[in-house]
Amino acid sequence: MKRAHTRNGRLGPSTDQTLRDLYDLLKWAPTSANGAPARFAFLRSKEAKERLRPALAPLNVEKTMTAPVTVIVAYDMKFYEQLPKLFPHSPGMAKLFERNPELVEATAKRNSSLQGAYLIMAARALGLDCGPMSGFDHAKVDDAFFAAGKPCFGCDQEFFPEGHVKSNFLCNLGYGDPSALHPRLPRLPFNEACSLLSSQSAARGRLSHRSSNEPVGAAAQRCPVILLMSRFSPACGSAVSEGSSIAIGCIRRP
Ligand SMILES: Cc1cc2nc3c(=O)[nH]c(=O)nc-3n(C[C@H](O)[C@H](O)[C@H](O)COP(=O)(O)O)c2cc1C
Repeated sequence: MKRAHTRNGRLGPSTDQTLRDLYDLLKWAPTSANGAPARFAFLRSKEAKERLRPALAPLNVEKTMTAPVTVIVAYDMKFYEQLPKLFPHSPGMAKLFERNPELVEATAKRNSSLQGAYLIMAARALGLDCGPMSGFDHAKVDDAFFAAGKPCFGCDQEFFPEGHVKSNFLCNLGYGDPSALHPRLPRLPFNEACSLLSSQSAARGRLSHRSSNEPVGAAAQRCPVILLMSRFSPACGSAVSEGSSIAIGCIRRP
């Protein structure tokens, strides 16, 4: 975590096996209801990169065109169709999403972002370097690779034709060129990025109070640690399962 940097120039190709190993690592990290909404399109050929080129912000063109692999971290808006397989002990869960497009969108974006972060961590664990990028035109990428996020049977869509897939962010992958490394950028110190609530019981009470889901609130009561993700968001949620050691939630400051 401390030594790995964001990389610009890179050397060396990644084999198919490396990319399979990468997915086999990242897939084990958690997502809401085990929904795993992320989809990963690995672009390796010159032709695929050329299709991506018009969508890239100018500063991202050169490093993307020369990277051995660029992965489009995307999300499937119909991820919930896989829930009977991925979350079989809760048969009603898919229906919950079917009826609620806003929940689908929020869940798909949040969890595919998490899965993109898991990809970065897994790639680094395998000795690969990463260059994540949000500087690109989503509509152009979705149009070029995912039929603009609509199902596209029998057309020339290469990736995920069965499904409502949209781009989240891009990430170049490879073995980094040390000569192209920028100096390490600073990070916020603990006191600026974190707050330690003095009273755990007060935090527990408010987390429980704000939770729209009673079993979640009750489980949060029993957790030894509560991690507050946002201090200011009025629309709060919380997530914790029985037996967790950390409850994740957000509490509005008084
Ligand atoms: C989601 C995401 C989007 C990013 N978008 C870009 C981008 O479009 N272009 C770019 O050059 N760097 C981009 N970065 C790289 C960050 O600027 C970089 O990770 C950060 O400055 C930390 O750099 P360091 O790891 O070398 O300290 C992005 C990083 C992330 C995680």
